[in-house]
Amino acid sequence: MKVVTTIKDLQAQLAAARNEGKSIGLVPTMGALHAGHASLVRRSVADNDVTVVSIFLNPTQFNDKNDLARYPRTLDKDCELLEACGAQLAFAPSVEEAYPEPDTRHFSYPPTDAVMEGARRPGHFNGVCQIVSKLFSWVEPTRAYFGEKDFQQIAVIRRMVEDLGFGLEIVPCPVVREADGLAMSSRNTLLAPEERVIAPLIYAALKASQEFAKSHSVTATIQYVVNRINAVDGLDVEYFSIVDADSLLDVRAWDEAPTIVGCITVYCGSKPIRLIDHIHY
Ligand code: PAF
Repeated sequence: MKVVTTIKDLQAQLAAARNEGKSIGLVPTMGALHAGHASLVRRSVADNDVTVVSIFLNPTQFNDKNDLARYPRTLDKDCELLEACGAQLAFAPSVEEAYPEPDTRHFSYPPTDAVMEGARRPGHFNGVCQIVSKLFSWVEPTRAYFGEKDFQQIAVIRRMVEDLGFGLEIVPCPVVREADGLAMSSRNTLLAPEERVIAPLIYAALKASQEFAKSHSVTATIQYVVNRINAVDGLDVEYFSIVDADSLLDVRAWDEAPTIVGCITVYCGSKPIRLIDHIHY
């Protein structure tokens, strides 16, 4: 596997594949790779002739600078994992390479980027759209792979792809979980041992709510999940919204949308670490 750090080298590496009409899969990441990322890369390797993985801790999507500062950085280990998964190319640009000038573009895709994470992390999805649109322009992939763990992010990126007319396919990939149910996330490594023990209770509550929802209203189900998680010392629900999977708008009844999803963000521990997850009803 080749590792390149400049857009020029990235495009030189991809030129031959493009001229030969080969398919290119892109897996955008911020590094600190785990088995969830590996599943995206393996899927891309299976679907495409060439797989490029970007590793870039994108500063413009962090509204909390402490979150950016403590985000794990593990480039050498990341490259080993990508090699083992069969990726052909890793692209790890510097901030100056990715943003030679401040990016003043403003992306707005309401309601998808205005609710839930969008409402609580001002500028977050704007930053995601800034870097993902750049990556799409540089790589011109046939397909791009995103983990469904960031359920809302996929909805926003789909809107951006339609808006800007990127001729590529977005491939959503299922959440990969630890044996105890905790959704894999680069932030999990930041959990203290006692926090790691309680974090799986988030998914346990979501799973249990699928059964509860069969005989209760949307409002009662929200209360059930929030009460169950907040009853655990060290867990604090920031929001739990039950939404239409397409618009991401709240639903009030189970028959209000063809696909309904519950999206949650929970603060875990004293630092605290922000964990997100979701469940289909
Ligand atoms: O999901 C992520 O890791 C990031 O938001 C992404 C898509 C790589 C953009 O920086």
